[in-house]
Amino acid sequence: MDASLSGFALLASVFLSLGAADAAWANLVPRKTIPYNELKDVAKRFSKAGVSHYLTLTLGEAERVLYVGAREAVFALATGTMELKAAISWEAPPEKKVECVQKGKNNQTDCFNYVRFLQTYNSSHLYACGTFAFQPKCAYIELSSFSLSRLAFEDGKGKCPYDPAKGHTGLIVDGELYSATLNNFLGTEPVILRNLGPHYSMKTEYLASWLNEPHFVGSAYVQESVGSGDGDDDKVYFFFSERAVEYDCYAEQVVARVARVCKGDVGGARTLQKKWTTFLKARLACFLPEQQLYFNQLQAVYTLAGAGWRDTAFFGLFQARWGDVCVSAVCQYQVEDVRKVFEGPYKEYREEAQKWGRYTDPVPSPRPGACITDWHRHRGMASSLELPDNTLNFAKTHPLMDEPVLPQRARPLLLKKDANFTRLVVDRVRALDGVAYDVLFIGTGDGWLHKALILPSRVHLVEELQVFEPPQPIESLVLARQKKLLFAGSRSQVARLPLADCAKYRSCADCVLARDPYCAWSRNASRCLRADGPDGSLLLQDVVNADTALCNLQPAMPVKITPKNITVAAGTDLVLPCRLTSNLARARWTFNGRDLALEQASVLYDARLQALVILGAGPQHDGAYRCFAEEQGARLAAEGYSVAVVAGAAGPLEVRAPLDNLGLVWMVVVALGAGCLALLLVVLSLRRRLREELEKGSPAVESTLVYPIELPKEPPSPAFVPSAASDSDEKLWDPASYYYSDGSLKIVPGHAACQPGPPAPSPPANGIPGQPLQSPPSPGRLHLAGVRGSSSNGYIRLQLGADERPGYGDLAEELRRKLQQRQALPDSNPEESSV
Ligand SMILES: *[C@@H]1O[C@H](CO)[C@@H](O)[C@H](O)[C@H]1NC(C)=O
Ligand SMILES: *[C@@H]1O[C@H](CO)[C@@H](O)[C@H](O)[C@H]1NC(C)=O
Ligand SMILES: *[C@@H]1O[C@H](CO)[C@@H](O)[C@H](O)[C@H]1NC(C)=O
Repeated sequence: MDASLSGFALLASVFLSLGAADAAWANLVPRKTIPYNELKDVAKRFSKAGVSHYLTLTLGEAERVLYVGAREAVFALATGTMELKAAISWEAPPEKKVECVQKGKNNQTDCFNYVRFLQTYNSSHLYACGTFAFQPKCAYIELSSFSLSRLAFEDGKGKCPYDPAKGHTGLIVDGELYSATLNNFLGTEPVILRNLGPHYSMKTEYLASWLNEPHFVGSAYVQESVGSGDGDDDKVYFFFSERAVEYDCYAEQVVARVARVCKGDVGGARTLQKKWTTFLKARLACFLPEQQLYFNQLQAVYTLAGAGWRDTAFFGLFQARWGDVCVSAVCQYQVEDVRKVFEGPYKEYREEAQKWGRYTDPVPSPRPGACITDWHRHRGMASSLELPDNTLNFAKTHPLMDEPVLPQRARPLLLKKDANFTRLVVDRVRALDGVAYDVLFIGTGDGWLHKALILPSRVHLVEELQVFEPPQPIESLVLARQKKLLFAGSRSQVARLPLADCAKYRSCADCVLARDPYCAWSRNASRCLRADGPDGSLLLQDVVNADTALCNLQPAMPVKITPKNITVAAGTDLVLPCRLTSNLARARWTFNGRDLALEQASVLYDARLQALVILGAGPQHDGAYRCFAEEQGARLAAEGYSVAVVAGAAGPLEVRAPLDNLGLVWMVVVALGAGCLALLLVVLSLRRRLREELEKGSPAVESTLVYPIELPKEPPSPAFVPSAASDSDEKLWDPASYYYSDGSLKIVPGHAACQPGPPAPSPPANGIPGQPLQSPPSPGRLHLAGVRGSSSNGYIRLQLGADERPGYGDLAEELRRKLQQRQALPDSNPEESSV
């Protein structure tokens, strides 16, 4: 099915069937984008000099302590203050590191002790495992002294991977450690092991049909014995991706799996001695149903416990690469659906056909892979040791179920292109409407955190936060529900964030439009506050509809924004930025109190730049401009300008956008190099408009726009050279005629129409009469890299010289472009491709 499509056909299939609505669903836009520096007052951080890789986080003592496993160290932090309470240095000794290097491992990355497992063992001890320079070791940590019991280092084989880069998961249940890992130096022997505690250790059969090059990502303990009518057992679930055995033609294909064992399993008597008799696994399907496109690479799983075990939900975080498009997705599964699949038909390898297929013959009794229940006990089988050989032999050869586990709603909860999701946690929070909503916190490969609200019919991305800078993957996430805190670990540090920062919503409309179930507008305090606060009846919130009528706002509130005064000479091109704090808002402009008619050729709004562009300002442009952020019918004042146009200045002019209010100045973007196509298009179109304007007989005055952005040192690429100028001036190839000494770019429209004269002094600081020019006219150069924001689908990253491609509209659009580049699709629909 999915396997039978090549990457190219996959692209075609997405392209052909993703309608506009679907595409919007497929590439949600976070309402707010909070960059690193705006998190300063909100986030608390911890890091210790010389220590890196904060990979494992565990809460203790009713969320008062956070235990952190890092490279060669373990820390105990106070969650209230993020202060270090105690630290353990747990280095692999030099001789182990030497051995590690001698065995061919990298002394910069591999030959350290990475703490990969850290969990509460009992009330007085933690249990920790580390890779220990490719010779894994485990140890108890005594909490009262916060020290390792050094004499009792235990062999970590099977409990912790040798290789720090390999997937691993484990959990402790009643003093027994369940771990899923790679059991040897080479990483070739996968195992799901139960260790510690009173029993002998139990493991998986070493067969490719059981585990085949797995990448383990998560595990969960579900107490299914609680309230069970038939004396059922508790289960431990494991989540991983592995190489599929069942799709014979596609040896390379990887699939996502869920496997489980029963807690009471003690192995068979003759067959499956000290091996799981209850090991069953099934495909975990996460896919786009219309396109039959599967997400096969499982990245992480979060288990959300409910009131009873049947309410347990698993949230799987997946990645897929279709062609050269990388897509991340989240799918949700109910434990009951997993259980049904394990009770359904098995898959079987058919020797004669050399194929895997559904097993349809009679199944031995007792049912292979089932836990011991009252049914068994009544028949004299009190433990797995008493199971008959035919049941065990069948269990050994039939670990795989025929049916896949399907996600809730039969599709992903959310999708994101190019996001590279790495970890997630989920909170279930009761909003003021009395309904419990799931809120997903998803970490990305470049240090961002997305917060997503799951609504009955759709998903709303509340915000995205840049938790780590420079970009680095979020390696671990834990949720402190009572304290309403979230902890994230990365290579360089641990960060603590509140589940919501309601104070950033400054108005009632902004607070309501946020749809953040943790926040509500207080009529008493006139502030956006935590929704679980005391004066519940006076709080306003509407997470489903975000109806701002709640706030009783006039459509256009009286504005308190002080307009910026700008005086320019006639003929100047003006760029008036209006930064919208919501990516879902649209800019609305008024001119002298009336809605601005953007149809006039000389005034246009550029959504990508988030700016109003006035070409060749004349007296008719003189007046008051206001920008409003319009979202769901509510208008919030965002920016104001008071523009005065002074007539008839002769000579070259330079106009700089008002730079006094930094952060508001979102100026034009120039593309250099192959990577920045979208940016190039913007500039080219702007240039075209400018030229058209001049050809129409607009002021012959030469006007210059200065774009305060950093440029690489190479000369502009040929595609960038303005054609009107290139034939009239040889020196245009000279970088000096393109750049000011400060490195900013000059664009000189209509060069050919210039009157001959002495070369313009540049920059002419006093060139504009009446203009109270900032002196010195510092470009206050914008750092555009890393800026995200959008009023269309997807992100726009205004980033120059980086290898990043611009976020160019939605998934469908990108695919469309790719397909057009590749031309001649075998079965492409011409109507679709001409859209
Ligand atoms: C790792 O090996 C390189 C070259 O063999 C050596 O220069 C470097 O000092 C070593 N680094 C450590 C941390 O041992
Ligand atoms: C916890 O486990 C450790 C290690 O087995 C043991 O020494 C200690 O006595 C246990 N503590 C309690 C309170 O049971
Ligand atoms: C803009 O000009 C007006 C009228 O001249 C003046 O009252 C106001 O203070 C000026 N605003 C700024 C920000 O300079």
